[in-house]
Amino acid sequence: MTAQENRLIPAPAEWSPETGSFNLTPTTFLLARDMQAFQDAVTFRDICIDWFDFPLKTAIKEIGSGPYIEVAYDSTLDLPDGGYILVIAPEGIKVTGKADGGVFHGLMSLLQLMEPKPDRTISIPCQTISDGPRFVWRGMHLDVCRHFFSVDEVKQYIDLLALYKFNSFHWHLTDDQGWRIEIKQYPKLTEVGGWRNGTMVGRYSDQQYDSIRYGGYYTQEEIREVVDYAAKRHINIVPEIEMPGHATAALAAYPEFSCTGGPFEVAQGWGVFPDIFCPTEETFTFLENILDEVMALFPSSVIHIGGDEAPKDRWKECAHCQALMQREGLASEEELQSYFVQRIEKYVNSKGRTIIGWDEILEGGLAPNAMVMSWRGTEGGIAAAKDKHQVVMSPNNDCYFDHYQGDPANEPLAIGGMTTLEDVYNYEPVPPGLSKEESAFIIGAQANVWTEYILNFEHVEYMAVPRMIALSEVLWSTNRKSNFDDFKLRLARNLQLLDRQHVNYSRTWQTQ
Ligand code: ACM
Ligand code: ZN
Repeated sequence: MTAQENRLIPAPAEWSPETGSFNLTPTTFLLARDMQAFQDAVTFRDICIDWFDFPLKTAIKEIGSGPYIEVAYDSTLDLPDGGYILVIAPEGIKVTGKADGGVFHGLMSLLQLMEPKPDRTISIPCQTISDGPRFVWRGMHLDVCRHFFSVDEVKQYIDLLALYKFNSFHWHLTDDQGWRIEIKQYPKLTEVGGWRNGTMVGRYSDQQYDSIRYGGYYTQEEIREVVDYAAKRHINIVPEIEMPGHATAALAAYPEFSCTGGPFEVAQGWGVFPDIFCPTEETFTFLENILDEVMALFPSSVIHIGGDEAPKDRWKECAHCQALMQREGLASEEELQSYFVQRIEKYVNSKGRTIIGWDEILEGGLAPNAMVMSWRGTEGGIAAAKDKHQVVMSPNNDCYFDHYQGDPANEPLAIGGMTTLEDVYNYEPVPPGLSKEESAFIIGAQANVWTEYILNFEHVEYMAVPRMIALSEVLWSTNRKSNFDDFKLRLARNLQLLDRQHVNYSRTWQTQ
């Protein structure tokens, strides 16, 4: 095997090709040396059935004399957390992983190397790989509010994240156009807030709407199922509950938590809406009760509270808001937003969790323990890192996969922008100008898939793939060579895997 034949993405830290291959047959056992590795083995068995219709057997004790695919955790490995060593030899395969998720990451590399033969065996070329991630936050986001995606579709999305070693799925669950998570204490959030009576169609400038009722939501049981599905793939789900803005759907259900009292309708068009949560004691109780249910469903140590695009028009006109500002000595409505976020942070912290918010939460003063997701560029992330807050980079130039990826004349309607595959591949999450100590606060990056102009899951795939594959290399690989031609070669081979799963990836990059 030569370097040209490698198709692993993200590129591993170290790999050495060897001659020969291991042949996987239906009698090959996947042998786990510990219970943690056994869980990964079972997940891998399920994935092999799904991908190759191949019935691997799993065991936790030696059965006969092999050959085995042997999997084990080893906390003493000299690798970053989540790293692994994968040895493929003619007489067997061994994956040794470091927590958290090392064995699973090794198995995902193995999956990418599997070549099914017509006789229903699978050939895997011999090689040794030693590998570990560069960043601890390797994220993909999905907006299920502007358009809704089923549990099965969300699982397919998670499958793609797993294959490319992402470990964070940011699930954008609430927005002006729909509230998508069942909250038992406030059933109208989904009964009313989960549905809209029409949707903008076509370009924003056309201002055209249909009058079709549209919506949906996930029950708590479904949420638990997805959280479990992701956890088995070593992916943490970060739920986002937007506040104080992007709250129209919630306020359509419970207008008493607005400044004016409403009434409101779930938004049918895109954009930024003026009616936001009014910071009364009743509103805080409402949001805290919601967050209680959210935190019971999601074990994530980090909870996303939104914070972006909250116009202050209503707060400026609201007697309660103005009196609160006077009482608290707040000089501006931005400081009132900071007060709002700090109250929520205190509550979330009291439950042992951390908040993350979009970079607007820097305005008016950052909450003491908050993490920042920098989307309007890198400035917010830089300021937060200098202030010793952890940062996830998601600047819209490089990380917004709702942007066009090629000439708009040849692409489906998108929100705008231009973020090509090469732009993503060349993206560097640590911005220049930070000291080494400050850079350590940049814990990773994430791409966002906003779905105003993405009407179905095939279109989600088209926008996300292969740009997310390029991002996976940015986030994982410690030895990225910034060789886009080499990446494209590996990508072409790698995409053959996705063909098996009928993933609707974009081919725009092939003509760029
Ligand atoms: C955002 O794109 N409004 C975070
Ligand atoms: Zn108010």
